[in-house]
Amino acid sequence: MTTNDRVLVTGGAGYIGSHVSRRLAADGYRPVTVDNLRTGGRSVVRWGPFELGDIGDARFLDEVMARYAPVAAVHLAGSAYVGESLHEPAKYYRNKVVGTLSLMEALGRHDVPHLVLSSSCSVYGVPAELPITEDTPLAPVSPYGASKAMAERIIADIGASTGTRAVSLRYFNAAGAEPDEGLGERHDPETHIVPLLLEVALGSRPSVDLFGDRHPTPGGTCIRDFVHVSDLADAHVLALRYLENGGQSRALNLGTGRSTSLLELVRAVDAITSSTVQTRTASPRPGDPPALVAGSELARSILGWQPTRSSIDRIVGDAYRRHRSVAHEHVAREGTTGPPPGTRRG
Ligand SMILES: NC(=O)c1ccc[n+]([C@@H]2O[C@H](COP(=O)([O-])OP(=O)(O)OC[C@H]3O[C@@H](n4cnc5c(N)ncnc54)[C@H](O)[C@@H]3O)[C@@H](O)[C@H]2O)c1
Repeated sequence: MTTNDRVLVTGGAGYIGSHVSRRLAADGYRPVTVDNLRTGGRSVVRWGPFELGDIGDARFLDEVMARYAPVAAVHLAGSAYVGESLHEPAKYYRNKVVGTLSLMEALGRHDVPHLVLSSSCSVYGVPAELPITEDTPLAPVSPYGASKAMAERIIADIGASTGTRAVSLRYFNAAGAEPDEGLGERHDPETHIVPLLLEVALGSRPSVDLFGDRHPTPGGTCIRDFVHVSDLADAHVLALRYLENGGQSRALNLGTGRSTSLLELVRAVDAITSSTVQTRTASPRPGDPPALVAGSELARSILGWQPTRSSIDRIVGDAYRRHRSVAHEHVAREGTTGPPPGTRRG
């Protein structure tokens, strides 16, 4: 691999995409970010060229591919809220399904041989057994999860005809940050639990709803498998290497196999931020699985992936440092705590 091999990163201005781009650059690739900035921020695109546009626009993709001749693509662009997908399903199908179709056709037209897709554990729906392995049946319960499952199918079918081999990475709960690089998580509106808890700890939100306290789990709150965003980023580079070495198309889970209840997470945030985060118990949400825990032995054995930063303390500690510095910058600029609703990640 030469140092200038270009990799198209769709959604590279987003939370996970910016961490992936940083990791690609550290490994000698040149990430070319393609992003419509619908939720991403231009300021986190720092490791290669930026092309403003939509993956649904075939002519735009053709121009970008002709200009950069990428050796591979990492496809993260998409809308990322499970709850919103229940109210606006068409948005999710258009963006992930139609968008992925458009991207796959462009990769085929330009003979790009390798793709890494950002998929999700939501493709499994509410699993009957834990841990969830890649053999667990796909049974998504939200348009978000269904759009991911469809995207996986599209890349498998089109890839089989065009020769583009692909790894679909099914992330469990992405969290954490790279505070020293100025990278972190901020969705708008924020729905992800770690940033929500930190916003309460930092005083810019009064409390957080925990959905359900009578789930069949120890303590009654939902159980999740949190994985540090930089461990996820590592897996993308390993997946590219796997494909470069002739690996076949496949899907892989990315989680730690560790169960963390939301109550345990709240306690960790309290301890790390020296605060008492206010939570309220709300009704369980339809389709919200009580427990999601990954079996990720395949990613370890096939890719050699080791999630080394995914302890809850490390995840919360890194995210807290990032949130705190964003809040301080905001105070210095505006004289109030925390960015107001509608502020983009920077
Ligand atoms: N955050 C998680 O816990 C999690 C878990 C599983 C899967 N994922 C998936 O990972 C990917 C990235 O998630 P994220 O949390 O970084 O979200 P994000 O919103 O921060 O990033 C998505 C990026 O894609 C861009 N984008 C959206 N639609 C586009 C389009 N049509 N054309 C070009 N750019 C477009 C946005 O502007 C944004 O920069 C998503 O596909 C998401 O579904 C995230």
